[in-house]
Amino acid sequence: MASKPEWKTNPKLAAGKGSTVQEFTASAGSDKFEIDVAPWGEGHLRVNGREIAHIKDAKDRIQAFQELRDIADRYLSGEPINREQKKKGPELPAVKAKLLEGKRGLIVGIANENSIAWGCAKAFRAFGAEVAVTYLNDKAKKYVEPLARVLDAPIVMPLDVNAPGQMEAVFDHITKVWGKLDFVVHSIAFSPKDALQGRVVDVTRDGFLTTMDVSCWTFIRMAHLAEPLMRKGGSLFTMTYYGSQMVVKNYNIMGVAKAALEAAVRYLAAELGPKGIRVHAISPGPLATRAASGIPEFDALLDKAKSKAPARSLVSIDDVGVAVAFLAHDAARLITGETLYIDGGYHIMD
Ligand SMILES: NC(=O)c1ccc[n+]([C@@H]2O[C@H](COP(=O)([O-])OP(=O)(O)OC[C@H]3O[C@@H](n4cnc5c(N)ncnc54)[C@H](O)[C@@H]3O)[C@@H](O)[C@H]2O)c1
Repeated sequence: MASKPEWKTNPKLAAGKGSTVQEFTASAGSDKFEIDVAPWGEGHLRVNGREIAHIKDAKDRIQAFQELRDIADRYLSGEPINREQKKKGPELPAVKAKLLEGKRGLIVGIANENSIAWGCAKAFRAFGAEVAVTYLNDKAKKYVEPLARVLDAPIVMPLDVNAPGQMEAVFDHITKVWGKLDFVVHSIAFSPKDALQGRVVDVTRDGFLTTMDVSCWTFIRMAHLAEPLMRKGGSLFTMTYYGSQMVVKNYNIMGVAKAALEAAVRYLAAELGPKGIRVHAISPGPLATRAASGIPEFDALLDKAKSKAPARSLVSIDDVGVAVAFLAHDAARLITGETLYIDGGYHIMD
């Protein structure tokens, strides 16, 4: 086993009693470890900028640090890092106030436990909503089904937006089983590798159309299919990224598609607003998901996001989930057409 890392506090952050989040860093070989812990017993461990552990239920900041330090030791010795979690399996966060009880919604885009859609599904369910979920195909089914069980999802259906009729089948089934819908989370995007990793100036017509079709048009189509089911109003969400507003290295044609998606959100919000249907784009900071693995030099994006964001922190899928759940609550009824950044404030910085 490599020698144990020596932890030091981050001198740039306030330390000791009264401070909010404390940060610790250590190096071992070429690996850089970071731990942050909050007073209520939540903390994260990152190795070379990638989050490898997130704990929420420690007694306090000290216990959170000790647990994360042990995980770092296990990581270095090659043991499974999340043996606790593995034993327990995926879980919903504990939330006392069932603020979304009685609401029913569709969540599209869960591929695995790292998906932003899973963060949203957990939050909606924890707040008491019922959720229907979809999986891309048979290969994805085995990863999504156990998560659907954690959610007690009454509707679990295949949905490949490229497969004619599948989206309609999902909404038909929801009409039969629920007869209504209160929210939809669209958390999918796709661009062929050549299109995504090439310059925008070189993109082929096919690459452009596929990117726009899956990443933008499908949201418009879902809004169209949801509208008749939202007779008492509702909310529609889609995931976007800052690369729609600014040229972000390696984001390329996806930035163009996200710009179109954000514009679509505003038009849909204007058109559906009189029916009480609200529409939002959610713009998380970078998260290490499967979709993100298609973006070259993604680790550099994570490093930059963390050092530049006022919060000096990367976001988690749970951060995204609770913010989306808030927007679905009736208390947010006069907020619509937004692009809401969940990025620790990164987008306000020069
Ligand atoms: N990860 C990030 O850093 C980040 C940041 C901002 C926005 N987003 C956006 O969040 C959304 C979710 O991505 P993620 O990061 O959770 O990654 P992910 O890989 O977990 O999710 C992407 C989902 O898209 C689905 N998908 C792709 N093609 C599809 C098709 N033809 N039919 C149906 N589903 C299809 C995949 O099955 C998968 O569930 C995307 O819109 C992405 O652009 C991601």
